[in-house]
Amino acid sequence: MEQATKQTIDYIDYRAIKKTKISEGKILIRPLTKKDLYQTINWLKDPQINKFLASNFNDLTYEKELEWLKEMKSSLIDFVFGIEDIKLKKYIGNCGIHKVDWENKICEFGIIIGDKNYWGKNFGTDTIKAIIKLAFKKLNLQKIRLFVYEYNDRAINAYKKCGFKIKDILIKDHLFENYYWNTLEMEIINENV
Ligand SMILES: CC(C)(COP(=O)(O)OP(=O)(O)OC[C@H]1O[C@@H](n2cnc3c(N)ncnc32)[C@H](O)[C@@H]1OP(=O)(O)O)[C@@H](O)C(=O)NCCC(=O)NCCS
Repeated sequence: MEQATKQTIDYIDYRAIKKTKISEGKILIRPLTKKDLYQTINWLKDPQINKFLASNFNDLTYEKELEWLKEMKSSLIDFVFGIEDIKLKKYIGNCGIHKVDWENKICEFGIIIGDKNYWGKNFGTDTIKAIIKLAFKKLNLQKIRLFVYEYNDRAINAYKKCGFKIKDILIKDHLFENYYWNTLEMEIINENV
């Protein structure tokens, strides 16, 4: 088993994957850059976006975010990207594959379309499709999982449209506005692995 794991890890060209650009419908995903981080911080702190995220990011600074980006660039289990409106070449959000378990070929997925003018216009769905391509075709993973709060209908709809299924419901798992909400665990399986 150890040997099988090592072979898989050796096969991945991390540098190439981290530089990958994938276009899908109305979006392009491309490597996240230092320049993007000022905008990223504003998005992460925006209460209308932050209510859907796992961390409050209250004390986030540019220095901390830069440190995070450096970690991501050297990590063997994380791949982060900026999302662009392909037509306008405009930076509109971030997405990433995280916590890759190379032995079991499982990863977690995260996304924010930070520019709220772009919500509900299929940019998220196109991005999720691009990430599925990356995870299943380039990284040869067999499962992507994610966690989403039950009040995030827009996200749940977008995930379902892309083939994610609800795997588990974590009951009263998240406190928001004085109420304990369920968290959904969703997953999509690569049938070709
Ligand atoms: C979640 C997110 C990535 C989805 O991307 P998006 O571009 O807004 O979503 P899409 O337009 O691709 O798809 C959304 C679907 O939900 C529907 N929808 C839109 N607004 C909705 C709302 N307020 N309530 C319920 N459904 C809604 C859309 O109609 C669409 O489904 P349809 O095409 O079948 O009609 C994006 O909204 C976002 O980044 N939100 C903030 C951060 C976040 O929630 N991240 C995910 C954390 S798990």
